[in-house]
Amino acid sequence: MSAPTHRDSAPDARLHAPDARAATPIPRVDAYEKVTGAARYSADRTPPGLAHAMLAVATVGRGRVTHVETAAARAVAGVLLVLTRFEEHELRPAGYRLSGGYGFQTLQPLLDDRIAYRGQPIALVVAETLVAATEAAALVEARYAAEPVAVTLDAPGAETVGQAAALPQPMFADTAVGDADAAFARSPVRFDGEFGISAQHQVPMELLGTVAEWRGDDLVVHECTQNSGAVQHGLARQLGIDPARVRVVSPQVGGGFGQKTWLQSHVGPLAVAARRLGRPVKLVVPRTQTFHGSTFRPASRHRIRLGADRSGRLTAAVHETRQQTSRHDLFASDFTSVTARMYGIADFRGHQRLTRTDVQTPGFMRAPFEHAAVFALESAVDEIACATGRDPVALRLANDTGTDPVTGRPFSSRHLAACLRRGAERFGWAARTPRPGSMRAADGALVGWGVAAGAYRASAGPAVARLRLAADGGIAVEASGHEMGQGLRTAVARTVALDLGIAAESVRVGVGDTGGVPQHLTAGSWGTATALPAVHAALRELRVRLGAPDEGPVDTVAAAAELAAAGRPEAVVEALSLPPGQSAQAADRLRAGLPTPAGPEYPGFSAFSFIAHFVEVRVEPAIGRVRVERVVSVVDCGRVASPVTAAGQIRGGVVWGIGAALRERSEPDPRFGGFLNADLAEYVVPVNADVRRIDVDFIDAPDPLVNALGVKGCGEVALVGVAPAIANAIHHATGRRHRSLPIRVEDVLAREDGMIANSW
Ligand code: MOS
Repeated sequence: MSAPTHRDSAPDARLHAPDARAATPIPRVDAYEKVTGAARYSADRTPPGLAHAMLAVATVGRGRVTHVETAAARAVAGVLLVLTRFEEHELRPAGYRLSGGYGFQTLQPLLDDRIAYRGQPIALVVAETLVAATEAAALVEARYAAEPVAVTLDAPGAETVGQAAALPQPMFADTAVGDADAAFARSPVRFDGEFGISAQHQVPMELLGTVAEWRGDDLVVHECTQNSGAVQHGLARQLGIDPARVRVVSPQVGGGFGQKTWLQSHVGPLAVAARRLGRPVKLVVPRTQTFHGSTFRPASRHRIRLGADRSGRLTAAVHETRQQTSRHDLFASDFTSVTARMYGIADFRGHQRLTRTDVQTPGFMRAPFEHAAVFALESAVDEIACATGRDPVALRLANDTGTDPVTGRPFSSRHLAACLRRGAERFGWAARTPRPGSMRAADGALVGWGVAAGAYRASAGPAVARLRLAADGGIAVEASGHEMGQGLRTAVARTVALDLGIAAESVRVGVGDTGGVPQHLTAGSWGTATALPAVHAALRELRVRLGAPDEGPVDTVAAAAELAAAGRPEAVVEALSLPPGQSAQAADRLRAGLPTPAGPEYPGFSAFSFIAHFVEVRVEPAIGRVRVERVVSVVDCGRVASPVTAAGQIRGGVVWGIGAALRERSEPDPRFGGFLNADLAEYVVPVNADVRRIDVDFIDAPDPLVNALGVKGCGEVALVGVAPAIANAIHHATGRRHRSLPIRVEDVLAREDGMIANSW
């Protein structure tokens, strides 16, 4: 099949014309399926003969397994297999994603006796029922030669390295421009402070779940993943088989948030167990095990030095960071590429370090670096506003820039000032009295109003879309991308419907299935900006195939009937799209399940999404409880591809920000390793009662350069800046600055001179 390549450098002028229809929202296309339970998630699959698996995991944080006693487990009625060690010929490591591999870490459990973190699998049990598997796994007993663990940034034995020196590749280098230290020393107004965030875990509603099923020599894996291509190719590498023999199916993911971006370490063992038994096997990883068996947001610290002149114009910034990683992998950080771009700061120096600790390898979690980095920067900017007597909104507007200070090239689009102005208007910011503690609610609560901005790189990857005109005139779409609730399916359906002038209900969208078009990692807020250009290009091909004009409505029902009447084959078209600057090599990587995101630096421009958050908190003076009363968030994510789901993404990001700012902390266990509060009872996230009014608005101005549709991402930028807006609001309410997250009641109540120790 011909697959013309479309380059997304030329904007499609028609899409930029004012068009009422283009602004019309449609409901989430899979909402009905989801709320009625008809949507099939990976663990919903129940092929005939299904057996059930459970993992037994290490109870020490480091050392060696000296003996695993499995007799009691094997004696449980219904137990089929107890596997404690795989041979290298049947299960090879998948490799670490940062070294050209497919796994979330280098370490593949169950290949040797080494224990690198608490919760590492030591046995895989398969039984006729889940109850039997669970009972048997609990009866697996191991003896260990345990070694001392270091699980926090300051623990003895934790080892710190400079990132750029340890990982000498341009993408891991420190961002630096000008002479920031000299410019800082010269600045008449200076801020110098250290910030920190604790480790946190994603707790998506859908647990990690896998069903592995062999059909002859072919392996079908139903897996909740944001990266079915990597799971396909990683499994092929692990099992030593042709990737064409592996199909990974992931049509619905119940929340990803970065946890489901790479091959999980239980999937290979499960596939081997299924082959040995000649039966399909299912594993749903219990919540507590997901805290140790998959990635998380590592703890990090940030020293920010920020210089300004007396009017509040920012002149210099130095951002030094330290991020937790595992003992066995360097999970690279990228904190400074966003802090260097938030404002027009001429002199910037970043320096990033990594600290090895005895944990599973951490990874991406929503706005993986931007959340923490911008918490630090936007808290510091607020301090500069106070120090110079400038209004925090006015100060940010005064430091806006149209030019990327790192490259000297323009931003493709940057409407941060419009976000700030519109947000201030909607929020009623003008009524704010600047003095901390000067605003009170009728019930006596301290009222605080805070603002912060955010940015997130506008990335995109290569993608393929295939369109089929069905006999009834509907359109079946297969596209590179994964639906994890963010609304990709809706954005694709709406794009096709608007283009052809048909109802969205006539568009069926298949994503996340390697049995269709090649699948690229969906993460980094690039899902929509990756899939839609391919869909747009395929629509052009479809119009050519049907002899339809290049724009305007198409009578697809008539076109399908005509094809049928003429006895011609059904119309199937396919197109590959590449982001600006990418070569055909990117398409090869796409087909090999390797990530190939472009951005934020493109030939001739840099691209970011932007956001401004305005927050009102209420602080009860007697008990220190903070409530987030209302939030106004205004977003520049280019053209909004799907208004309903995009607004949902922003609200979700704000809720997440409330959790990140006030609730969530994974408590490391310094004695035995692992995390102590590894379930939803003790890992505290916001509940409905914590979430009050969230008002979302979009600038909705198409980006003229990133792709033909003018779309930038919104899922991650949603979170960026929420935490500092809340912290700045708390300062406005109480006069207290909080520089570590989460900010809890005890922190708000603690006196300046008697800080309650924080364990991050
Ligand atoms: Mo996202 S944290 O890149 O899935």
